[in-house]
Amino acid sequence: MPNVASLNSLPYRHVLPHTTALSPAGRLSIGGCDLRELAETYGSPLYVFDEQDFRETAREYQREFASHWPEVSVLYAAKAYLSLPLANIVAEEGMGMDVVSGGELAIARAAGFPSSRLYFHGNNKSAEELAAAVSGDPVGRVVVDNFHELTELNRIAGEHATRQPILLRVSPNVDPHTHAKTTTGVLDSKFGFAIANGDAEKAVAAAIAAPNINLRGLHVHLGSPIFEIEPFEQASEVMCSFAQEMGAAHGFRFEEYSPGGGFALAYTRAQHAPAISEYAERLSLSMEKALARHHLEQPSLHIEPGRSLIGRAMVALYTVGARKEIPSVRTYVSVDGGMADNIRPAMYGSSYEAVPVDRPLEEAVETVTIAGKYCESGDILVADAELPRLEPGELIALPASGGYNLAMSSNYNMALRPPVVAVQNAQARLLQRRETVEDLVARDVL
Ligand SMILES: Cc1ncc(COP(=O)(O)O)c(C=O)c1O
Repeated sequence: MPNVASLNSLPYRHVLPHTTALSPAGRLSIGGCDLRELAETYGSPLYVFDEQDFRETAREYQREFASHWPEVSVLYAAKAYLSLPLANIVAEEGMGMDVVSGGELAIARAAGFPSSRLYFHGNNKSAEELAAAVSGDPVGRVVVDNFHELTELNRIAGEHATRQPILLRVSPNVDPHTHAKTTTGVLDSKFGFAIANGDAEKAVAAAIAAPNINLRGLHVHLGSPIFEIEPFEQASEVMCSFAQEMGAAHGFRFEEYSPGGGFALAYTRAQHAPAISEYAERLSLSMEKALARHHLEQPSLHIEPGRSLIGRAMVALYTVGARKEIPSVRTYVSVDGGMADNIRPAMYGSSYEAVPVDRPLEEAVETVTIAGKYCESGDILVADAELPRLEPGELIALPASGGYNLAMSSNYNMALRPPVVAVQNAQARLLQRRETVEDLVARDVL
């Protein structure tokens, strides 16, 4: 009978969730649940969430960074995927959360997420969003991105009789060598105050002078996913140098530092992300050295992993349908999802592995293109998947589907967003149901 050991021989085992195994029937299982049985119960497409994988990774982040730095908080970047039950799991694991919109903030609040552990990001927060952040129980930090926001936040915090703690988002002009669409910490970016043109210094001076703002420190986010550690190390030096200059010029106190998120996740057999321990060790060491060089005290550290925390914990399940063979050109195998639930291949050219759920160990006999079902030629999920010859009705799993798939999903072609089911200890728990036609027309006014 096939067993876990044989699953470990797969060249892409590292992109599968931690608890992936073979069911007694030889099919793929996660959290002790057979994926075919899950698809039969919940339908397809279906997103399966390995709760243990997520919790273990959350604990690993906290443990590894805490072993190198005295005061650390790990904030889950909710933009990667958010729902009420996930917010509860994040809170249970003792993490904070980075939110980037009034919508994400509202979901965090609806889940009863501790406000003090919320960090509010975004490059164009509206007055309403800022008011929602500072009113009632104010969020822990607003990460201020630009001068307009600084002025507005100072005004709004004053109206709410509060002095809002903030970080300033600074653009250090460090290139993380990732996709242009996900590079954020360079001079030509819509995000943050650039050091290079003097904006960051002006922002520090303005924030210190603002009566309703409490400037606590600096934030950078370089991009995502960042497979090299050097960009984080470079940012440590740039930020400490800047902090020292701001201390001398404006009396700035560097109490908190956030190097953001962007830690890498492997999507395919060819990709290997640095271990969390490696990021923690080298980032901490680079900060220690830079702090010493610039005669600064140790700030607390806030990190914001999104993709690398949730990514591997989810697989997307699709059912195979039509097949189109174009001799000497290509064979298309179409599935029942696509760019409406995962826009990443169309948007960034992202690659995935494709795993035949019913016979994961079977030899590949052909190379096919896995196409989505939506009305775009670019709706391709996997360009060259090597698979056994799959019959209509068979299931394909796409691992590493937790980050930015459902978060960027749409109703294109009036697609119904798929459900999310959490699996753990052979139990399945629905976290989000499938959308319905009633949902599709819920906003329509006749
Ligand atoms: C400010 C900030 N923090 C954290 C993240 C999370 O990045 P990742 O999901 O790659 O860890 C992002 C992603 O865009 C971000 O903009």
